[in-house]
Formats: sequence, structure tokens, C-alpha cells
Amino acid sequence: MDAILVTGNGPLSGKIPIAGAKNAALALMPATLLSEEPLTLTNAPRLSDIKTMSDLLRSLGSEVTSLNDDLVLALSSQNLDNLTADYDIVRKMRASNLVLGPMLARAGQAVVSLPGGCAIGARPMDIHITALEALGAKIDLKDGYLHARAPAKGLIGARHEMRFASVGATENFVMAATLANGTSQLVNAAREPEIVDLVECLRKMGAQIEGEGSPVITIQGVDRLHGATHPVVSDRIELGTYMLVPAIAGGEVELVGGRMNLVTAFCEKLDEAGIDVSETANGLRVKRRNGAVKSVDVKTEVFPGFPTDLQAQMMALMCAAQGVSSLEETIFENRFMHAPELMRMGANIEVHGGTARVSGVENLKGAPVMATDLRASVSLILAGLAAKGETLVSRVYHLDRGYEKLEQKLQAVGAKIERVAGK
Ligand code: UD1
Repeated sequence: MDAILVTGNGPLSGKIPIAGAKNAALALMPATLLSEEPLTLTNAPRLSDIKTMSDLLRSLGSEVTSLNDDLVLALSSQNLDNLTADYDIVRKMRASNLVLGPMLARAGQAVVSLPGGCAIGARPMDIHITALEALGAKIDLKDGYLHARAPAKGLIGARHEMRFASVGATENFVMAATLANGTSQLVNAAREPEIVDLVECLRKMGAQIEGEGSPVITIQGVDRLHGATHPVVSDRIELGTYMLVPAIAGGEVELVGGRMNLVTAFCEKLDEAGIDVSETANGLRVKRRNGAVKSVDVKTEVFPGFPTDLQAQMMALMCAAQGVSSLEETIFENRFMHAPELMRMGANIEVHGGTARVSGVENLKGAPVMATDLRASVSLILAGLAAKGETLVSRVYHLDRGYEKLEQKLQAVGAKIERVAGK
């Protein structure tokens, strides 16, 4: 198994290009299942999660072709010849559950294994199930698989209020409702930019949807959707992660393709911590205001709040800041697995339930550490950039799920980072 070796080497400066969003692409790709006509996605990220979703779609009968150095995904789902999403693929990635709504809407039935993915809490499927049941679906759990069936004449438009604004359940409901009979309304819908991107694509495919980005989304069902071409929105989590590079290591980095409105709550916290973010013609420029980074308190929330997917990375920054900060995780239980690894690097962290208290230290020290999930892994890389000495991060397959060309992007701003085989 590969590992990544990082040697802290001071201020980092230059440009980092931001890829298309993993989480947007993972919702956009299953939208192919809604139509017999081709769907083309441009600005696709080059990640192992995208390969996993491609494999899953192919297993259902879709054709998936990568073009232009894998930046373009050509998807076509003329015939769906298998309506079962198998455990062997689904266990690799929770977002596999996003085939459930579209398959049910188009084919009238779907069998989807309960998902796996990052080990960050229980992550049940109840919100997805009740949302699709509101559209008339009958769903049973048998042998670890959800067996879903639409009424004989198809899903029926309905108003449904979710108990929590789940990102995935919003995506499943909206995709399913595009082909339902009549009007559907989702109340307490998630508002993440990836949902807005999905709706923009569905609209290009002929769907009638209003209200994306607000807590109420209204969908008027149509008989069929057609083909479309859609660019994947920029990855706000990759953006936020690389914005922390000059924050933790010093220097000045331009994030090409970054947009402030994707990371507003995150930028507010950076500002409080003494980090300047400014807009440029091509993206965002980030640097420390006057040397020291100040501790700030953070609470993760659904969008537009501080994203849970940037909590681990922010913790790495707080480990090297001046003062004491409190990081509260409200979206996932068990999402502090990076804390003990950061402590191996000399960080001072106490975890009590869903809150971590981080006292900044003057110097982090390089150490062998282990990646436990996608965002936890990259927090260790960030800490390694600021640490004295060498940090060897093992189990980097987690990183390859969500960060394309990570070493190259960091080398381009002067970081000493390399992949080493077989550690
Ligand atoms: C998506 C993102 C993930 C991000 C998360 C929260 C994708 C592919 N992944 O995941 O990176 O961390 O949003 O911003 O877009 N829950 C239930 N029952 C359900 C569904 C969810 O209890 O049926 C709980 C989960 O256990 C979790 C919370 O709700 O505690 C948030 O989950 P959700 O918003 O659904 O996240 P995902 O769509 O899985």
C-alpha cells in the first residue's frame, strides 16, 4: 500500500488549480439513469470514487466513457439491464445509494445494497427511505439490500418534509420526483452547492424544478428527460483544503477556479483566524495577515454553515495556532479519528463527545501517521506541511478517493511531498 512522505519546508507559494467537485459528480453521474439519451459531464474530477461510480453504473447497463484525459465523462443509459446495485461495489462508497431514486423513477424498481464508505458514524438510510416512500415507493430491507418498487403507474408527486436536511436524500428525492406523476415538494431540503449543480443539470435535461439552494424545492414531474452537457461545479472542499496550505505553512497561494460564495462560512473563520482571502481574476488568493494564526471556535453545520468535510483540515490549522479553540462536530458522530494521529505529531487535543478542544502548539513534529478517512488523511498532510521533520502518512487510498494529483498540486507550490510505494 502506498504512503505519502511530507517534509515541512516553510512558506509555500504559487497556484493550485481546483478540480470539479467529487460530491457534485457523484450525484450528477446517476442522473444518466433518468434518461435514454446521453449525458456528458465536463470538468470531471479524476478520482477513484468516480471510477467506483462508473463501475456501478456499468454494472446496471450504462455506458461510461472517459475522454479528454478523463476530464469528460460520456454517460449513456439506453437500456438498464440490471436493477441491482451490488454490495461489492456499494460497500466501497456510500454515494452509491444515489442510484436508488433515479432507477426507481425510470425502471419502477431498484435493489440497492446498504452502503459503506468512510467510517465516520452510523450513516443510516432512513431519510432516503421515507422520502422515496412519500412518492409512493414500497421499500423493504432484505439480506442487507433495500428492495424498492414504485406503484404500477409510476411514482406519485407528493409533499414531504425531511427530519434532517440530508444531502444524499435530497438528491435522491429530487431525481426521483423529476419523472413522478404530478408535483412534488421537498421541505427542509439540503442547500449545498452540489444540489444546486445537480438541479441545473436536471433542468438542462428537461426537468421542471424550482427552489434549489433554498429549504423548499418544488418539482413538476415530466414524462421523460433528454440528453444534456453539463460542467461539474468547482470542488469547495478541495478549495477549502488548499486554502489552508498558506494558512498553516505560510506563503501565498492562488486557488485557480475557486469562488468565495462556495466557502463563505469557511472564509469568515479564516478571517477571524487572521488569514486574508481575496478574489482574483481567476480565483482566490490566500495569505496570513500578519504572521501568527489565531485560534477560533468552529461548529459544523449544514450548508451554508461551516462544512463538516473541512473540520479535520481546520483542526490541523488550529493545532498550530495561538490559543485554544473548540471544534464542535454536529453532522457526524465519530468524526475525530484524525485527533489521535495529530497528537502523534505533538498536537494538544482533548476530545469530549462531539467537541474537540485544541490548544495550539509552537511546533508540530513529523511522525508516522495513519489515514483513517478521506478528510482526516488530508488534515495529516496539512499538518505535515507545517511540521518539523518528516511525516509519513500511510493508507493513502483514502486520499485518492477525493484529491486528484495531490502531490503534484502541492509540489507546484514548493512543498516537499512524494508518494512512496509499499509502506
Ligand atoms: C454528503 C457528502 C459528504 C458530506 C455530507 C454532509 C456526498 C457524496 N457526500 O454525504 O461528503 O460529509 O454530505 O455534508 O455528497 N443521515 C441519517 N439518515 C439518512 C441519511 C443521513 O441519519 O437517511 C445522517 C448521517 O448519518 C449523517 C447526517 O445525516 O450523520 C448527514 O448525512 P447526509 O447529509 O445524508 O450526508 P451524505 O449525503 O451521506
